[in-house]
Amino acid sequence: MKEKILEYLNKKHDYLSGDQISKHLGISRQGLWKHIQELKDLGYEIVAVPHLGYRLESCPDRLFDFEVTRSLRTKFIGRKIHYFDYLTSTMDTAMRLGMEGEPGGSIVLAESQVKGRGRLGRSWLSPKHKGIYLSLILRPKILPAACPVLTLMSAVSICEALKDVAGLEAQIKWPNDVLIHNKKAAGILTEMNAEVDKVNFVVIGIGLNVNNDKKSLIPQATSLREQLGAEVSRVLVLQELLRRIELNYFILEDKGSREIIDKWRNFTLTLGARVKVDYQHKQIEGQAMDIDQDGSLLIRKDSGLIQKISSGDVTACR
Ligand code: BTN
Repeated sequence: MKEKILEYLNKKHDYLSGDQISKHLGISRQGLWKHIQELKDLGYEIVAVPHLGYRLESCPDRLFDFEVTRSLRTKFIGRKIHYFDYLTSTMDTAMRLGMEGEPGGSIVLAESQVKGRGRLGRSWLSPKHKGIYLSLILRPKILPAACPVLTLMSAVSICEALKDVAGLEAQIKWPNDVLIHNKKAAGILTEMNAEVDKVNFVVIGIGLNVNNDKKSLIPQATSLREQLGAEVSRVLVLQELLRRIELNYFILEDKGSREIIDKWRNFTLTLGARVKVDYQHKQIEGQAMDIDQDGSLLIRKDSGLIQKISSGDVTACR
């Protein structure tokens, strides 16, 4: 009902009498008053003027489920949202939900995380109301070895969404860092629950720095706000991101990984560069040649030998 009230107030953009709203929505005046109070408690500025009625003055910048699903252009991704003011990590909650049988496409969102985590045991700074902290549950019918391509698909989707919504040219550093002007704007952490030859479910965790100011960013990171010089609607960014993920996921299901990997190549700054990779406690140096169909990086070492690397930390050599 809150969603409907907001939609109606938004559409008319002017004072609407309580009578008019209650009739339109088929609820009592008392019921309407209760919902309006709840919306005010959530941070919506709704003014009530005697003889004129209610008017929506402003909306808070929150990722409430009804804000995200309103005008969300997806079929199944993000249609069910588990929204929290704060969590330890959206990954823990999504993994638990996955074990309990949560359907693919559901997402977990938190306004902040106490212990947001990144790859290789790192932490992910998650200041309140600044970024998007999202975990998406998927149940793909693929083998566990093919799962890394889901990370590439997510990185491509982030770049496409940033271009669409904010006109920003982002690039990917293998496998999963999204950079703008060489600073990290987003990271992806993929975890799965699988048997030897069967994936039960995958959780794709995405952290995106949206409205962070300098204080809430480490020196190697950036945010959309820093890049654009203005705040951005996190709801709009998230909606576009979910739409892009769904489009790419359908491509992956229909045609396999080739098209996604081709898109990934267009966004990457890793291929062609001379790189150092920390891989299984060793450092490997060489030319980043390509990625193969499972998303592994192929490096030509100075000996001429091609080494396949499934995970690691890449730095470009100067
Ligand atoms: C990385 O770059 O190392 C990956 C960072 C992933 C961060 C996101 S934020 C939402 C989700 N919850 C977490 O605890 N981590 C991921």
